[in-house]
Amino acid sequence: MLVNATAMLKSAEKGHYAIGAFNTNNLEWASSILDAAEELQSPVIIQCTSGAAKWQGSYKVCADIVKQLVEDKGITVPVALHLDHGTYEDVFKCIEAGFTSVMYDGSHEASFEINLERTAEVVKAAHAKGISVEAEVGGIGGVEDGVASKGELADPEQCKAIADLGVDFLACGIGNIHGIYPDNWEGLSFERLGEIKALTGDLPLVLHGGTGIPVEQINKAITLGICKLNINTDLQLAFAKATRAYIEAGKDLDGKGYDPRKLLKPGRDAIKDRTKELMLQFGSDGKGWN
Ligand code: 13P
Repeated sequence: MLVNATAMLKSAEKGHYAIGAFNTNNLEWASSILDAAEELQSPVIIQCTSGAAKWQGSYKVCADIVKQLVEDKGITVPVALHLDHGTYEDVFKCIEAGFTSVMYDGSHEASFEINLERTAEVVKAAHAKGISVEAEVGGIGGVEDGVASKGELADPEQCKAIADLGVDFLACGIGNIHGIYPDNWEGLSFERLGEIKALTGDLPLVLHGGTGIPVEQINKAITLGICKLNINTDLQLAFAKATRAYIEAGKDLDGKGYDPRKLLKPGRDAIKDRTKELMLQFGSDGKGWN
């Protein structure tokens, strides 16, 4: 069932587990993520960046794919369709397109005041339609769809100011980086996470850049208040590895192995398997209606 992300993340906050927010690129991605969620009876967030929306045609195409798959597959667990790292303009496009949740990423605006002002406007517009809102304080390192920033530690007072606007969940930089972590990465700052949590209370916190963070650090972050874990690169790597193995084994040259349904199947299965592993790791399995 398609829902906003508020209730599932509140339950995660109370129950000390996290919901995976998996980025989709196309039909194969959305289908595999949904199958994984249903098999494990896990709530799930499927999220789309502006780049992935362009690839698929538009936000509306992405929304229609996810909505129709949820309906036609008879998915019984809660599914939120979320905009990932949206600009102010993207948010309104997604509200129109039928997304149930949006992230307005104001962390790269010219000033914190602009982030604050625009987040307030987004909360008003989205909540009027029952759509949940994620905001961001402190840029997340790495490059994602052209949005680059230095990996910073979010200012706890700024997090509190944004939380007080009534956002439903908050992304805050705690040393995390999008994409593959460099060998000299210093790890997450649990000290900063604790300071933010102390000021934001029971507001669900979001960890971006979930790919490649050691399991012990993920677990600790969840115990300290992280309820939404963003995963993109991890599923891309799983898809690429399985597809490479198929081609390297020469299977595309065997009979009708070039048929896209055969060629894409190992990658599609790999996305589902990896999504299930991550859901088990985050503890969201069996929490479909908690
Ligand atoms: P990764 O690509 O590092 O998993 O990050 C995903 C993310 O944070 C999406 O917002």
